[in-house]
Amino acid sequence: MSFVEIRNVRKVFGEGERQIVALEEANLTVEKNEFISLLGPSGCGKTTLLKIVSGLLPLTSGTVVVDDKPVNGPYSDYGFVFQQASLMPWRTVRENVLFPMEILRRRDSALDRADELLELTGLAGFAHARPHELSGGMQQRVSLCRALIHKPKLLLMDEPFGALDEFTRLEMNDLLLKVKHETNAAVLFVTHSVAESVYLADRIVVFSRRPARVQLEIPVELPAHRTQEMRFMPEFIKAERHASEALGIIKGH
Ligand SMILES: Nc1ncnc2c1ncn2[C@@H]1O[C@H](COP(=O)(O)OP(=O)(O)OP(=O)(O)O)[C@@H](O)[C@H]1O
Ligand SMILES: [Mg+2]
Repeated sequence: MSFVEIRNVRKVFGEGERQIVALEEANLTVEKNEFISLLGPSGCGKTTLLKIVSGLLPLTSGTVVVDDKPVNGPYSDYGFVFQQASLMPWRTVRENVLFPMEILRRRDSALDRADELLELTGLAGFAHARPHELSGGMQQRVSLCRALIHKPKLLLMDEPFGALDEFTRLEMNDLLLKVKHETNAAVLFVTHSVAESVYLADRIVVFSRRPARVQLEIPVELPAHRTQEMRFMPEFIKAERHASEALGIIKGH
């Protein structure tokens, strides 16, 4: 059994003529520690799938199992990073990171962990700053720390770096890989950037148009420890081409 098992998941929104089938027989597995990038056309159902895996959204039919436990509603053993950092403006950086532990009533046990994460992400000097004093990239780093504070084994990320400039995005990619290495979480990462999907992932999953199904899975045959130079390796370009063809960005041959 894989760490995450998504089996025949179907999701229908609305009723009657206004019915929208967002997911149709979505099947996907994620192994422990694995990094999966999820690509697909806008509106195909990627966010819907992440929300279903997190238990925030009920599915219409099918099953999701995470770490041998069926997902039937909200649970806490995952971290979620959204496109917008959505930090609480009145709280300091450190208090934002600690917020999930407050909800879980374990704040006091997590103080050292919060400081470690801030250190790891280069934010130690900003622990007492407020979100508005930070750049967009720094805010997303806070959001990443907040998602990891309770040591989840699964990290769900929905276009987390989509709003950042290219240079910051590359930096965040390397930071994310470093953090992933330290925390050993499995990652399900939604992006619109084909290059980003290749750079980060062990495996790329391409979704079809809505209703989404898995159209293609592409293993990324790059060394586990990624460096920016690898963007120019034949294996990188091969995976990029493959994914771009599946998305219809370029024509296959
Ligand atoms: N709460 C909702 N109620 C009704 N329809 C919804 C709801 N959430 C999503 N949908 C519909 O489900 C489909 C899939 O939406 P979803 O947000 O999962 O797409 P996406 O792949 O994440 O798109 P994008 O790449 O633009 O973020 C869309 O047609 C959307 O309109
Ligand atoms: Mg989305």
